[in-house]
Amino acid sequence: MSLLIVSFVVVVVLFPFPTALCWGKDGHYAVCKIAQDYLSQDAVSAVKELLPDSAQGHLAAVCSWADDVGYTHNYRWSQPLHYVDTPDFICNYRYCRDCHDSYAHKHVCVTAAIYNYTMQLKSQLNYNLTEALMFLSHFVGDVHQPLHVGFLGDLGGNTITVRWYRRKTNLHHVWDDMIIESALKTFYGSDLSTMIQAIQSNITDIWLNDVHVWESCAHNYTACPNWYASESISLACKFAYRNATPGSTLEDEYFLSRLPIVEKRLAQAGVRLAAILNRIFTSKTRIAQS
Ligand SMILES: *[C@@H]1O[C@H](CO)[C@@H](O)[C@H](O)[C@H]1NC(C)=O
Ligand SMILES: *[C@@H]1O[C@H](CO)[C@@H](O)[C@H](O)[C@H]1NC(C)=O
Ligand SMILES: *[C@@H]1O[C@H](CO)[C@@H](O)[C@H](O)[C@H]1NC(C)=O
Ligand SMILES: *[C@@H]1O[C@H](CO)[C@@H](O)[C@H](O)[C@H]1NC(C)=O
Repeated sequence: MSLLIVSFVVVVVLFPFPTALCWGKDGHYAVCKIAQDYLSQDAVSAVKELLPDSAQGHLAAVCSWADDVGYTHNYRWSQPLHYVDTPDFICNYRYCRDCHDSYAHKHVCVTAAIYNYTMQLKSQLNYNLTEALMFLSHFVGDVHQPLHVGFLGDLGGNTITVRWYRRKTNLHHVWDDMIIESALKTFYGSDLSTMIQAIQSNITDIWLNDVHVWESCAHNYTACPNWYASESISLACKFAYRNATPGSTLEDEYFLSRLPIVEKRLAQAGVRLAAILNRIFTSKTRIAQS
């Protein structure tokens, strides 16, 4: 009996909240839906070729694939690729210091994964490029969720138990799902496409001047995941962790002040995913022509 309890405790400690890996399905869907509209002609055709038939040409249809397979035996190795942790209460991110898994294997984290799958798609070598596209599209979303670049000690907010209005949950899950879920109910008639349209009109209107800054990468790199991760931990400190101590109840004040952050991160992730895919598949064309 006691052994049973001990092993239960061990399992819970080692695998806390297995349902809270990433932006929820809605968040990933929104990111990829936004991205698809910004793809160049070259990228549209390259993406169409790589998508599995089941996606019927829609990138957004496969953007939660990496979560779905993450729980299966064959893809368990990919679980540490969804996030990166900083030391406790450190509000900046450093690739060399932070990018490793819990066994201290280097280059195992979300930013390394973005480099990895970008490189695979660019090289066109002997990789499964369908998987590379699905992983890349997912991880560019994840790295924009502030608590996917959170503190190690609380596993990016997973061990911070809070109430979201009356529901008991954890802070990580609030940022993956609950803020989006409450926004859908409160402002968008429970319709995800209405929410996506609202974000899209801000992209073409309010944030228009910021968009080329979002898209760009220093030195014309193909992807800049370290930059996106630095933004995330900064937002995590300023907004996600603030006033969300263990046991607190988060309601209107937290919801209404954090929702604009979530919507902007979904916008940035979508715009940047498109920019990365455009750079990948444009250089491919150039190489092919030369
Ligand atoms: C890179 O991609 C390959 C193929 O999916 C995978 O085996 C490897 O673990 C990946 N490495 C990182 C750091 O993402
Ligand atoms: C590539 O990955 C996809 C998704 O896991 C799979 O369905 C497909 O069979 C793989 N292709 C090859 C050639 O292994
Ligand atoms: C659009 O931008 C306005 C002004 O910054 C902001 O208040 C609003 O929450 C944004 N809406 C969405 C859906 O991003
Ligand atoms: C980046 O690319 C642009 C356009 O191709 C070019 O004008 C610029 O000089 C490049 N910048 C760097 C640092 O290579």
